[in-house]
Amino acid sequence: MLKGKRIILGVSGGIAAYKMTNVASMLYKLGADVHVIMTKNACEFITPKTFEVLTKNKVYIDTFDENPDDPVNVPHITLGQTADCFLIAPATANIIGKLAHGIADDMLTTTVLPARCPMLICPSMNGYMLDNAVVQENIEILRKRGYKIIESEYGNLACGYEGKGKLPKEEVLVEHILNAIQYEHDMEGRKVMVSAGPTEEPLDPVRIITNHSSGKMGFALARTAARRGADVTLVTGPVNLETPLGVKRVDIVTAEDMYQNITSRADDMDIIIMSAAVADYTPETVADNKIKKSDGGMSIPLKRTKDILKTLGENKKEGQFICGFSMETENMLENSEAKLIKKNADMICANNLKVEGAGYKVDTNIITIIKKAADGEKAIIRELPLMSKDEAAYEILSEIISH
Ligand code: CTP
Repeated sequence: MLKGKRIILGVSGGIAAYKMTNVASMLYKLGADVHVIMTKNACEFITPKTFEVLTKNKVYIDTFDENPDDPVNVPHITLGQTADCFLIAPATANIIGKLAHGIADDMLTTTVLPARCPMLICPSMNGYMLDNAVVQENIEILRKRGYKIIESEYGNLACGYEGKGKLPKEEVLVEHILNAIQYEHDMEGRKVMVSAGPTEEPLDPVRIITNHSSGKMGFALARTAARRGADVTLVTGPVNLETPLGVKRVDIVTAEDMYQNITSRADDMDIIIMSAAVADYTPETVADNKIKKSDGGMSIPLKRTKDILKTLGENKKEGQFICGFSMETENMLENSEAKLIKKNADMICANNLKVEGAGYKVDTNIITIIKKAADGEKAIIRELPLMSKDEAAYEILSEIISH
């Protein structure tokens, strides 16, 4: 995910400095070239050696530290200018104050000045310190200068207080870096709505009709679109997945809920991707009380739900792109082409549930992209190989924006 990217981690002297070892390790495992710069105070909490072992790079502390492999170049200039992303976390009140006012008196602050990459900073300290007007003003100065401020969280702080000032989880910090630099922001300015997961149709207060959808494909699409800079709304059925960073999430339960939530937002969207496994049928009535069993068999009268994709296709706005999904167990191409035409979609992503590596619970997929040709009838087909759902999401989105 981060191959070929140079990331600088600036670690200043807060107790959360120890968490940055995990961040450094996670970034290294994602393929990044990670360089850590510590302030002298950070070394009170953790030793540079730990970072050096994890990143395989020298850790700098003093502006006059030399790189033994490159004695000619000045490290703070070389590192600053070649960085793809700079994350300062934990950022103490002191480092924030220095950066806000151009003070450059150590390796970290001198490296920030020549850097022209995305700058992320996560203030982390005691809640009263964070709340101090001068700290808030300095944070505001940095925000106005284009720094991305990663908000610290509420919780039990190391100083014994409960309040705001806690460094977010390591995964969150890594996600901020991925959102900033994993992809070119080629979807900026586009409004994208993705549906994901199953729906649940109640029979009585105890039972539901649902399906095996895990939501992974829809979440991958939402996450990837957000990482490419899009403004993303994710309408999801009940799933056990974390909301991707920067994505607006709307939780729904039934097919009717999904219909209402999607159609009411549709006019505002440039791209709509229906990857949810929406129930085609729902019980005609929902019993107020638990249905009791009897000796004989039982049948449940069902009625059709509204077809959301078809409604979107019929009411498509000028310039809007509608993409559906099609999961089949036989005749995948014919059935999916028929859906493309019948529902007036611009594209269908088809997969065959019976092929290994495709389907509900797995992290991979094998997608065939079917697009309408210029004459509106004949379909263009592109088969993607087995890939992760994140990679498939990237390909699907590229296909959409190339349209
Ligand atoms: N879909 C929808 N509203 C529904 C049902 C499905 O918008 N009530 C969408 C799905 O999100 C998906 C596409 O329609 O994008 C799937 O098409 P559909 O005809 O429902 O597929 P199947 O149910 O698999 O088709 P069939 O019943 O013909 O097997």
